[in-house]
Amino acid sequence: MMMKWKRWALATGVLAVSAMAQAAPPSAAMLSNACAGCHGTNGGSAGPSMPSLASQSKEAIVEAMKKFKSGERPSSVMGRLAKGYSDADFAAMGEFFSKQKLHATTQVVDAAKVKKGASLQESNCGRCHLEDGREGKDDSPVMASQWLPYLQIQMEQYLSGKRKMPEKMKEKVDPLSKDDIDALLHFYASVK
Ligand code: HEC
Ligand code: HEC
Repeated sequence: MMMKWKRWALATGVLAVSAMAQAAPPSAAMLSNACAGCHGTNGGSAGPSMPSLASQSKEAIVEAMKKFKSGERPSSVMGRLAKGYSDADFAAMGEFFSKQKLHATTQVVDAAKVKKGASLQESNCGRCHLEDGREGKDDSPVMASQWLPYLQIQMEQYLSGKRKMPEKMKEKVDPLSKDDIDALLHFYASVK
């Protein structure tokens, strides 16, 4: 049975084509097609519930994709999507998006909260979310200019326990009040 199918596939070239598709890393064009509707052509988010991927570290993107695929990180769409890709694809995606420039957004934020958040950021979050959140370090995502609604959804998932917070981040988040956290998210949304 199997042999017969294989011979047919070889004769028609089906096998050769699928083998090639597996070997080739995703091209920029393919990423644009598969990711651009939501994350923009160069990783700049197309809407308030979606993160920008541009300038994220390769590790942060790969880790996020693995967690979406395994179901460890909750998602609306990414879980289903990630199942279609291999670890090699994740690495190529991470490589591509890490090379794109930070996507600056202009958002409506509360000036008083931004000011308060700015004073809390360095001592509480700056160890991992570097340069006011502009720079990702290891598996820490870029926070600067992410849409406020996206940041709020993610923080809610952490605080409710649906998304697992890194231990060292939890140590910093736990002592803060709801208002402190809200201020920090307004601050990050304002950074360009
Ligand atoms: C239909 C819209 C949509 C498409 C298409 C899409 N994403 Fe997403 N992506 C989201 C949303 C929404 C989130 C937030 C998590 C969730 O709810 O699924 C997200 C989150 C992510 C994150 C986490 C980023 C962070 O800061 O934590 C990564 C990485 C990611 N997507 C990569 C990709 C890649 C790579 C592709 C293309 C293969 C892609 N996404 C295609 C909507 C989309
Ligand atoms: C010890 C390092 C560390 C510290 C300190 C830290 N974080 Fe994080 N943060 C991370 C990592 C790593 C992730 C991604 C991990 C995951 O959930 O997969 C993350 C993710 C996030 C996200 C989700 C962003 C996204 O795109 O998915 C938010 C929001 C966030 N952190 C806010 C904060 C705030 C606010 C503080 C300070 C009170 C803080 N973090 C302190 C390491 C840290």
